[in-house]
Amino acid sequence: MMMNCLQGWPEPIVRVQSLSESGIRVIPERYVKGPSDRPLLYPAAAARGVEQIPVINLREMYAGDGSVQETAMGKISMACREWGFFQVVNHGIEPELMKRTREAWREFFHLPAEEKQRYANSPTTYEGYGSRLGVEKGAKLDWSDYFFLHYLPTTLRDHNKWPHLPSSCRELVGKYNEELVKLSEKLMKILSISLGLKEESLQEAFGGREQIGACMRVNFYPKCPQPDLTLGLSSHSDPGGLTLLLPDEDVSGLQVRRGHNWITVKPVPNAFIVNIGDQVQVLSNAIFKSVEHRVIVNSNKERLSLAFFYNPKGDIPIKPVPKLVTRDTPAIYSPMTFNEYRVFIRTQGPSGKSHLESLKSPR
Ligand code: OGA
Ligand code: NI
Repeated sequence: MMMNCLQGWPEPIVRVQSLSESGIRVIPERYVKGPSDRPLLYPAAAARGVEQIPVINLREMYAGDGSVQETAMGKISMACREWGFFQVVNHGIEPELMKRTREAWREFFHLPAEEKQRYANSPTTYEGYGSRLGVEKGAKLDWSDYFFLHYLPTTLRDHNKWPHLPSSCRELVGKYNEELVKLSEKLMKILSISLGLKEESLQEAFGGREQIGACMRVNFYPKCPQPDLTLGLSSHSDPGGLTLLLPDEDVSGLQVRRGHNWITVKPVPNAFIVNIGDQVQVLSNAIFKSVEHRVIVNSNKERLSLAFFYNPKGDIPIKPVPKLVTRDTPAIYSPMTFNEYRVFIRTQGPSGKSHLESLKSPR
């Protein structure tokens, strides 16, 4: 059993939650980031609440009133071009379902260690309960544990790898992901239109509805005695298509890059935080931006978030949509399938935006 859990990892896995609960006052060296990667925790600046990512009211997109629709469309277009991020409200998903799913996962993370250990993952698929990404020996680690599972394509779905406890968890995860697929499909149409394409264009470029990929990563950020030295999640851009994040109800932590600054997102009640992934940046020929983000932790409250990733079919080449390629705006990326891209990222190691940069076609 023990051997199984460790298979494939370069070092024994340490659960960040158990470190946190052990009451240590000093975090192990493994979690201490280099000075330039450490967060700057200025409580005063956070309280001033400077800039925020745009908030989109999805209901306005379907308003009978053309001008309301147009204004909302303009806002989402600006969000995808300039921020790569927005929050969406009135998205049609029951707040009750969101809340129950999040609380089921919170319960999961508070189960005894042995129970969670049954789902311990390995770097071959990452599916299950994990505490690190990458297999580089001696790598700096993030201050978080997670649970990763596949939802689509159904051939990858394995209910046995989903938590049996709490008993409501699997049913909620099924329902929740079903709803998030529908919302993603709606957003794909809106994004297509805002690129000046037919509403089905992006979906078609993803390989249609049947073959797309969807997976979920539940992030658990335990309390951290030295939050100024580490990160819950290092700076990265999401490799897939779209990400729909359900953040913690009352603990913020997500930071989005804005030029040389990091903006701490203030979650709007019952909203999802949506961001553009690398694949949509490629399809849009970089009109839409896949923006770097990271997570900061704190010393008095744990934080839990549910990230849902909506991805293109794994084996079709992703390249700028032909209509967005013109003489003035030539294609800046060469084709690569999402499966290839994933392997590519794994071999390059987690290094933020450099992945997409190196995908640019030689000119
Ligand atoms: C992710 C991610 C942010 C958060 O899982 O890719 O960016 O707030 N999560 O947990
Ligand atoms: Ni992310």
